[in-house]
Amino acid sequence: MTTTDARAQIADLSKTLEEHNYLYYVLHQPRISDYEYDILMQALINLEKANPELLFPESPSQRVGGAITKEFKTVVHKYPMLSLGNTYNEQELQEFDDRVSKMLSEPYEYVCELKYDGVAIGITYKKGVLAQAVTRGDGEKGDEVTANVRTIKSIPLRLRGSGFPDEFEIRGEIVMPHDVFDQINKEREEIGDVPLANPRNSAAGTLKMQDSAVVARRKLDCYLYFILGENLPFQSHFDNLEAAKSWGFKIPPYNKKVGSIQEVFQFISHWDKARLDLPFDIDGVVIKVNAYEQQRQLGFTAKSPRWAIAYKFKTERASTVLLEITYQVGRTGAITPVANLQPVPLAGTTVKRASLHNADIIQQLGVRIGDTVYVEKGGEIIPKIVGVDLEKRAAHAHPVQFITHCPECNTPLILREDEAKHFCPNEGGCPPQIKGRMEHFTSRRAMNIDSLGSETIELLYNAGLIHNIADIYSLHKEEILKLPRMADKSASNLLRGIEASKAIPFERVLFAIGIRHVGETTAKKLAYAFKNIHELEQASAERLLEVGDVGEKIAQSIHAFFRDAHNQQIIQTLGQQGLKLSLSEEALATTSDKLNGLTFVISGKFRQISRDELKKRIEQNGGKSVGSVSGNTSFLVAGEEMGPEKLKKAEKLGVKIIGEDDFLKMIEE
Ligand code: IVH
Repeated sequence: MTTTDARAQIADLSKTLEEHNYLYYVLHQPRISDYEYDILMQALINLEKANPELLFPESPSQRVGGAITKEFKTVVHKYPMLSLGNTYNEQELQEFDDRVSKMLSEPYEYVCELKYDGVAIGITYKKGVLAQAVTRGDGEKGDEVTANVRTIKSIPLRLRGSGFPDEFEIRGEIVMPHDVFDQINKEREEIGDVPLANPRNSAAGTLKMQDSAVVARRKLDCYLYFILGENLPFQSHFDNLEAAKSWGFKIPPYNKKVGSIQEVFQFISHWDKARLDLPFDIDGVVIKVNAYEQQRQLGFTAKSPRWAIAYKFKTERASTVLLEITYQVGRTGAITPVANLQPVPLAGTTVKRASLHNADIIQQLGVRIGDTVYVEKGGEIIPKIVGVDLEKRAAHAHPVQFITHCPECNTPLILREDEAKHFCPNEGGCPPQIKGRMEHFTSRRAMNIDSLGSETIELLYNAGLIHNIADIYSLHKEEILKLPRMADKSASNLLRGIEASKAIPFERVLFAIGIRHVGETTAKKLAYAFKNIHELEQASAERLLEVGDVGEKIAQSIHAFFRDAHNQQIIQTLGQQGLKLSLSEEALATTSDKLNGLTFVISGKFRQISRDELKKRIEQNGGKSVGSVSGNTSFLVAGEEMGPEKLKKAEKLGVKIIGEDDFLKMIEE
């Protein structure tokens, strides 16, 4: 193919993909299946690979990320990023309206918007192409995060339509939807990472990640609410946002233009309730005078515009008594203090427990046992204590003595300063840690021994038959049969499951052995980078750090793991028992990143390929296979006799349903 042909084809494919991207992520009205979209995308990627000089940063292929930013450049904002005045009640809002009406001689309109609780971003477009994205920073200057922002699918890389100025800036808020947040925290807790505090922090953290491919997988969204530039087509905020909508931006559908402060009050009371049903967090509403001329007349104070104000919602809060603090020991030895409360109703449920996270939080709150405390529900499932009612402090209330020894094994705790968390260091001897590691080892995404769940592990552990993950492979039928509720059939079943797990590929064994901070993705990357466990064991810090995903913390954790004599012994035994501690030649030959960022659910029986094989192919090609259908699922691979519930859910959520043929075509060359 000549370069001219390639150029034309790339332009054509890009345009088609942009169109479908817009239909899907901005309008939520897809016209082609994800499968068809992926085929087009693959064609574009192949052409760009063959003609690297024709690969541009605004290409739709760049949305999957891959660019690494080692250090974020500081950029001075062309227009400073101001904040807004806050009010918390209708009285203050009424006063705002009184000031506005006094200063303006003509009638005026307001635009009511939601106040998105995320990370503010300013995105500059030049000649219709996304040129730069900068965080708010201190308002004067922020961090350039363009590579990461390019991966957010609802932000156009190239504009549609016409009439946009040669250069302008659009501002908005990058948010992490609730379902994405919940999923990330589930995965973090599993590998012993501290869970993220709330969706806002997570969005901020994600935006500052070095590997944009990881950002792409986190599925951030963005709502745009402010446009700045010299030659904007209209003289009012609302009309320019409408114009921006026609250029392909995701302008919130919630905006409302109103003619009186009474209507503003109605907007507020509507969203104060309706916000609970939104898939992301908001913390109030923003009210803006619509006409630019009137905005000019009103002007600015030193910090914020006089033509706009934020009304913040009051978070529902209850007060109750802190009865006791108990301590939980996690799989990684992390100690989590839990507040046990006198049950109290809050936002529709009865609250009995609240999370206290760590000793610092307890100290900062200055809370005592017996105190009356305030609890709130934020973006998280477990409510939190936000303060103490000192007026109600009882004489018998006494300060919290954070425990010094593990409640499970009585080992003195250590404090890891960097994480502000206490840990039980007795990894090899603390029961919940040992059992937790075994549960992780046998879990579905690890060794997938479903005949060896938490109850059986508990039984075997209590009987003294297993002390670590390697012991699982030296279990004998006679010993198992002596256990309560173990019949011949269940014992055989158990042993069969254990035997079958020996075929699990290296990358999953690496995830299963439970190196702290090494999740599924990292394990896979390590497996492919080092090919076998001995190479990994010997790897220098420098070589570890070359692997995407691996930072200082993970590198250190890997080193610590392999230096431990007990771990060395376990790995040696696992090897002797026949577990796969190196990548198969076949795996090396059949890997690709074609399914990068896609999540699959498999259901039913298949004709050409086994379920396990299907799963393996998904992973080898960079995709993810999960157990249940959710809003994050890209495809449901449906076989014969598939579960009707899964099908129903997939249909309801608009998840694309494909057959095994479709799937195999996706990963074919
Ligand atoms: S307008 C000059 N509109 O709230 C006006 N801001 O304290 C610029 N925010 O930094 C901001 N939703 O991060 C505007 N609909 C909305 C908003 C919004 C959230 C954030 C933004 C800003 C802060 C204001």
